[in-house]
Amino acid sequence: MEGAEPMSDSIESRLKEDRKFEPSAEFKKAALVSSPEAYEALYKRSLDEPEAFWKEETKDLAWRTPWKKFHEWELPHAKFFVGATLNVSESCLDRHLTTNARTTAALIFEGEPGDTRTLTYFELHREVVRLTAALADLGVKAGDRVAIYMGMVPEAAIAMLACARIGATHSVIFGGFSSDALRDRINDCQAKVLLTQDGAWRRGNVVPLKKMADVALEGTPTIEKVVVLKRIGRESAPCEMKEGRDVWYEDLLGRTPSAESLALAKKPPAFDAEHPLFILYTSGSTGKPKGVLHTSAGYLAGAHVTTRYVFDLRDGDLYWCTADVGWVTGHSYIVYGPLSNGATCLMYEGAPNFPDPGRFWQIIERHGVTVLYTAPTAIRAFIRWGDDWPAKSDLSSLRLLGSVGEPINPEAWTWYHKVIGKGRCPIVDTWWQTETGSIMLTTLPGACHSKPGSTGLPLFGVDIAVVKDDGAECKANEGGKLVIRKPWPSMTRTLWGDDERFKQAYWSQMPGVYFTGDGARRDEDGYFWVVGRIDDVLNVAGHRIGTAEIESALVSHPAVAEAAAVGKPDELKGQALVVFVTLKGGQEPTKELKAKLTEHVDKEIGKFARPESIRFTDALPKTRSGKIMRRLLKEIASGATETKGDTSTLEDLSVLAKLRADEE
Ligand code: WT7
Repeated sequence: MEGAEPMSDSIESRLKEDRKFEPSAEFKKAALVSSPEAYEALYKRSLDEPEAFWKEETKDLAWRTPWKKFHEWELPHAKFFVGATLNVSESCLDRHLTTNARTTAALIFEGEPGDTRTLTYFELHREVVRLTAALADLGVKAGDRVAIYMGMVPEAAIAMLACARIGATHSVIFGGFSSDALRDRINDCQAKVLLTQDGAWRRGNVVPLKKMADVALEGTPTIEKVVVLKRIGRESAPCEMKEGRDVWYEDLLGRTPSAESLALAKKPPAFDAEHPLFILYTSGSTGKPKGVLHTSAGYLAGAHVTTRYVFDLRDGDLYWCTADVGWVTGHSYIVYGPLSNGATCLMYEGAPNFPDPGRFWQIIERHGVTVLYTAPTAIRAFIRWGDDWPAKSDLSSLRLLGSVGEPINPEAWTWYHKVIGKGRCPIVDTWWQTETGSIMLTTLPGACHSKPGSTGLPLFGVDIAVVKDDGAECKANEGGKLVIRKPWPSMTRTLWGDDERFKQAYWSQMPGVYFTGDGARRDEDGYFWVVGRIDDVLNVAGHRIGTAEIESALVSHPAVAEAAAVGKPDELKGQALVVFVTLKGGQEPTKELKAKLTEHVDKEIGKFARPESIRFTDALPKTRSGKIMRRLLKEIASGATETKGDTSTLEDLSVLAKLRADEE
């Protein structure tokens, strides 16, 4: 593999080499922020004079009423832009109708079969207005919840923006989730309407979203109407439409809207800065997913400002974020951030290796992508598929590369830099979370050098630190917990229906500060190195999976007595999921049962959460007080033959020896 470094290189060995990558003089010249001093001055201003900073940086957001007070804070509850009103969809669409952006592409869509479609800001606005009026006629009102279970099609963004326009709270459920997972998420937020599609293309196959939704809908009493987009067509994705409940998207838009709904859609109401914008479910350390709630102005401000600075937006850019709209990256960096900036965003429906592993690079050449934002797990897959694929396409339009989702190993960084960026393009490694709403750590591409494997420096308004258990800040290069010490505009406001859990999960582990769940260290230059989750959350191929969620899915199977899920390092996925299962009396640990349990996880959560291996065992290692010792399981899952840590609290040492002997 030309240009790539051996995979054995560790972050530590790279650190010693002190590798730094400076942006080129040419890149700096055109950059929004072009020196470390300029970054520092802006960062300092964002902390010392937040009112002035945010006023300046959000002046384009089409506020209807200015704020009276920047911020109110009573742990754990924050308000930002207090007293302001706005309509988020107006900030993303209407404000561009009086500028050159009106006829500029907002979304350029490429379907997996190769079909393409471009929507200018004018056209996107028109589509959003039409859907807004139609949803209003279906009875959707401000404050209602609307579930969106769609693939990567422009209508997913249109649906989100139409909800925002009405003031309804959308909850997008990733298309990879199973019927059961969809049902639980709909019921948790009591959604009134579901938008879905007949099917989505994935690796040449159809993911039958409507069929999957139908199973969920058997147990969702709050859903009144289901709107179904025809993406695939009858032959490959037959759908049953339930009379009185289900309506085709195109038929719905074909109806003449009521005068009242049309008026609302054309001149939408203004909402309070803290009006709920969306709920996005994510995994935590219990079996029940968390409904992360984001509100309007603060979230939008964070997405807006970070998109502009981190991707250093310029006229003529074609920006491509490869994330799915079902995750927060898709919300902030396909929809709200880019559109509020009037940027042109590429949206691709399908798999990176369909029809062949050159697809991404062909897309870049075909459309002239300038900024690419993707995930390390994808980069590692491309490395494996070989350099011949990117070499077939002209990648010279690229000027900036981004990474998100997990720590990027220096090998992947170097490959991305050399083989894709041809050594020209800076890489922004962006650290953030569903809960933070927008990017918290990165290196602004024209301002600061980057270091492979480090996620860089804090963004505006972000007071972030690595601390010890007692809250004291760690010394340079000393490992600790990553915390955010001050509330920031785009932070989650609560967990839907569970404010107590919100306080417990984020604001109680370390007194007075937000605990991210990540471990990290900060080097002598102030650069952050995020190690990964230190709570019971795994990151498998960029998907966040709670070990407790997997465990509760498994124990809901009649054959299972107990289960423990742990992560083991994986070259491609970052982490792979290994589960240890004890069976109920009379159950045989057979291959067939393993297959059944795998299917059961598919059904309970989704195929993306499938364990890589299931290991039957007679007992799990437990402490004398009965707690499962995950640390030991992790070591065993990773193939360790000896135990490094303390086993003095282990109840029965023979369990360990047995587990090792059972190794597959
Ligand atoms: C967790 C958040 C933020 C959008 C995608 C994931 C890990 C995310 C990085 C990065 C190291 C990262 C953290 C974080 N993570 N980006 N650049 N470097 N780790 O969102 O599902 O909410 O997961 O992903 O562990 O806590 P999410």
